[in-house]
Amino acid sequence: MNNIVLIGFMGSGKTTVGKKLAEELEIEWLDIDTEIEKREGKPISEIFAEKGELYFREIETGYIRSLLSVQKTVISTGGGIVLKEENVALLKEIGMVIFLHADFSQIIERLKEDTTRPLLQGENREEKVMNLLEQRDPSYLSAADIIIQTTGKGVNNVVEEIISFF
Ligand code: S3P
Repeated sequence: MNNIVLIGFMGSGKTTVGKKLAEELEIEWLDIDTEIEKREGKPISEIFAEKGELYFREIETGYIRSLLSVQKTVISTGGGIVLKEENVALLKEIGMVIFLHADFSQIIERLKEDTTRPLLQGENREEKVMNLLEQRDPSYLSAADIIIQTTGKGVNNVVEEIISFF
């Protein structure tokens, strides 16, 4: 089995599903945001606050390039990874791209206690989510080899559904 790349909006389950999926398939798991945090020695929120989103996006693309040699790994990505065409092309080269789709209300529910996502800080969280979803959904859809609906489903269900494709 080659690599599996999970894409989707913040709160769509890329990290939890990725970890469980790798466990079930007995292959490696890697979370791009966690790897970036390790490399930079600070949380994503601090990277954004100190160096800005553009800097983060450069690090993100650089990190994806380094994954071209990875094998038999489930890769969880950050929600903004599809913003650059270059990233999408690299991800498709790296593995099978699976879009974890969650609807607006599910995302709001899953992120309601979250304080870590820099793009959702401040007021009008719902409006921010709505705008970002509108901007990004077409990119998730066009990057995806497989689309999995996650709304109302538990992690195990989503993992089983993904495994059924292989
Ligand atoms: C981002 C999503 C985050 C993280 C960063 C930017 C985005 O990852 O990469 O805060 O632009 O949607 P998650 O999707 O894991 O929250």
